[in-house]
Amino acid sequence: MTFSPTSNADAAAYPGMARYLESLAPGERRRAAERLDRLGDADHHSLGVSEPQPVEHDYRVEQIDGSIPAALSGTLYRNGPGRWEDHTGRPLHHLFDGDGMVSAFTIGDGTVRYRNRYVRTRHYLGRTGTRHLGTNAAGGWRKNIGRLPPNLANTNIVEHAGHLYALWEGGPPHELDPVTLQTRGVRRFGGRLRWLGSYSAHPSLCPRSGEMFNFGVEFIPRPHLRIYRTDVRGRLRHFRSAALPYVAMVHDFALTERYLVFLVSPIIPDAVPVALGLKPLGDALSYRPERGSVFILVPRDGGAIRRVESEAVLQFHLSNAYDEAGDVVVDAITYRDGGLLDGIARFRTSALGDAPSEFSRFRITASGRVTREPLSDSACEFPRHHGGYEGRPHRYAYVSSRRRLSTVYDSITKIDLVDNAEVTHTVQDEGNSFCEPVFTPRPNATAEDDGWLLTVEYQAAQHTSRLVILDARDLGRGPIATASLTHHIPQGFHGNFSPGRR
Ligand SMILES: [Fe+2]
Repeated sequence: MTFSPTSNADAAAYPGMARYLESLAPGERRRAAERLDRLGDADHHSLGVSEPQPVEHDYRVEQIDGSIPAALSGTLYRNGPGRWEDHTGRPLHHLFDGDGMVSAFTIGDGTVRYRNRYVRTRHYLGRTGTRHLGTNAAGGWRKNIGRLPPNLANTNIVEHAGHLYALWEGGPPHELDPVTLQTRGVRRFGGRLRWLGSYSAHPSLCPRSGEMFNFGVEFIPRPHLRIYRTDVRGRLRHFRSAALPYVAMVHDFALTERYLVFLVSPIIPDAVPVALGLKPLGDALSYRPERGSVFILVPRDGGAIRRVESEAVLQFHLSNAYDEAGDVVVDAITYRDGGLLDGIARFRTSALGDAPSEFSRFRITASGRVTREPLSDSACEFPRHHGGYEGRPHRYAYVSSRRRLSTVYDSITKIDLVDNAEVTHTVQDEGNSFCEPVFTPRPNATAEDDGWLLTVEYQAAQHTSRLVILDARDLGRGPIATASLTHHIPQGFHGNFSPGRR
C-alpha cells in the first residue's frame, strides 16, 4: 500500500495528510506528491504517525504483554504536537508547529495508566494570530508583518522542584498539574522571565546541586543568550548573558561541572522577508556554513566567558559533556548539510535519509583548539544518557536510529562510548516507529546501564501506539514489557521520567 494524494480511500485513512496536501499551492502540491512517490513501502506505512490525535484519554491500560518490572514506579511524561493544525483545522506545515499534547504513562505495581491533555495555550484556545513557524496566516503580508509564532508548549516536559513544565523555546513555560495534566498557566517565575520570556526546551538538571540550568535566545538590543539557574526550591534567577555571533537558532546546551556549553550553529534566517511578512520563519532558515560555528563556554560560578570558533557544525541536540584536565568534551548529533531544514519544513512528505546525521565528539582544548571524532555513523537523533552522569564522563548513550525507514526512526541504539560498540533493537513490523528513548535507573543500581529504556512505538497496521520497556543492559532481548493503547500518539519530541507514586 502506498499513499496516493488522489485516492479517496487514502484520504479517508490519512485525513490529516489529505487536508495538508489540499492546503498546498498547486506547484508545492505537485512536489509533495513527487516526494511521496519516492518513498518506499515501509515509509508509506509509517505516515499515520503524523495524523492528529484529537481525543483526550484517561484510562488504565488493559493490554500488558510481558512483565512490567516491580521496581519500575513513576510517570513517563512525553510532549509533542498532537495535531499539525490550528483550532480551525487549517494544516500547519512545519514539524515544530502544532499544539503541544502531553502524555503521561503512570507505572506502578505492574500496571500502567495513560492520560493525555493538550496544553491550554492561547493558541490552542484560538486566542492568537495564525502566523506559525512554517505557515503564514492567510491574507498576505498585511496579516503577517511583525507577527511572531505563538507559544505552542509542544517540545519537552520537565519536572523540577515539584513543578511540571511544558516547554517551547520561544516563550515561557506552561505549568501543568502533574496528575491531571490540567494547565495551571504560563509561568514567568515572579516576572524574572522578561520580554519574550524565551526559555529553551532543553534545561539541564545538575545531579549534584539539584539546580536546573536553562537559557533563552533574545534579540534585543542584540542577539544573546540569556542564562538562568533555578534552585532546588524553584526560584529562578538570571545569572549570565552571552552575546551570539549572529542571529541564530540555538536549541540545546550541555552542562559540565564547570561550564554551560553552547555550540552555535549557523542556522540563520533571511530576516527581511520574515520581518515583512512575506515568508514564514521556517522557510527562511538556511544553513550558512561560511559563517562558522562557535563554542561558548559559560563558567557556572563566575569568571570570563570563553568563545572558541570552529568550522561550521549543524546540530540541534547535544548529548552529555564533561571537563577533562582543562579540556571540555561534548557530544552532539550533527548533520552533513542543510537538507534537514528543508525536510522538517515539509516533514509529512520528506525523507530524513536525505539529511544524513552522525554522532560526534568535540574536544575544546585549554589552548582553544577544537578536535572532532566520530562516535557512531548510525543515522540517529534524540541522544539520552543516565541523568546521574550529567556533566561528568559517561559510558553509554541511547539514541533513536534508523535501519529501514527514512521518514521517522524505527530503532533504539545503545552506544558504548568506551568500547566503541553498538546494540540496536529495531521494530518488528513494517512501518512501525519509535520515539526518543528515556533512560531510568533501577532503584539503588550501581552500574551505569542498570535500568530501563522507555519509549513509545507507533504500530502502523493497527494505527495505535504502545509503551515499550527495554532492559538497558540487554537491548538485543527486545521489549521486556509493552502496554498497548487503544489509539495512537502522534510522533513526539521529548519526555522525561519522574520516579515515585502519583
Ligand atoms: Fe529538542
